[in-house]
Amino acid sequence: MCSHHSSNFYVPPQGPPQGLTLPSDIYIKMGEDNIFKMLEDFYKELEHSSIRNMFPGDMKEASKKSAAFFVQICGGPPLYNQHYGSPRMRQRHMAFPIDEQARQVWLQCFSKVLEHGDVHYAFPMEYRDQFWNFLEKFSAWMVNTSNP
Ligand code: HEM
Repeated sequence: MCSHHSSNFYVPPQGPPQGLTLPSDIYIKMGEDNIFKMLEDFYKELEHSSIRNMFPGDMKEASKKSAAFFVQICGGPPLYNQHYGSPRMRQRHMAFPIDEQARQVWLQCFSKVLEHGDVHYAFPMEYRDQFWNFLEKFSAWMVNTSNP
């Protein structure tokens, strides 16, 4: 039997998100610099959250990987693939014990930066609900740890 069969990761029953895409208008309206700025502020929120210890010391540096990913999924150039390779996001998150509570903290931090996203990063608020739906679905798939 393969050893990974005895591991104990939680697998969300709904499976990977299907057909989740974001309008490329988000990238067109924001541009690369604003997306990097938004993710930098998001990581500042994470830095003051209860899941801070999951993240590396240099949060600004860490935010750049996530920013590259968001540029890519918001319709910009494939920066993440170019710099870091294939996303395989659930697999990359396996190193961290992410339970539903950590997910809620993560989402809460993101909701703070979106609150005035139009003013700070030219985030197009007409796509806020769609963007939020993306984060909710995608983050559910990152959960790999169940709480009894
Ligand atoms: C469910 C809650 C989540 C938690 C607690 C979480 C936590 C983390 C942690 C601890 C890292 C490692 C940081 C580092 O070592 O630099 C990370 C990396 C990353 N996360 Fe998440 N994450 C979550 C959801 C998401 C979602 C929903 C997305 C995208 C939509 C995302 C995108 C990324 C990206 C792009 C990276 C960088 C991966 C790499 O190249 O190493 N995360 N996350």
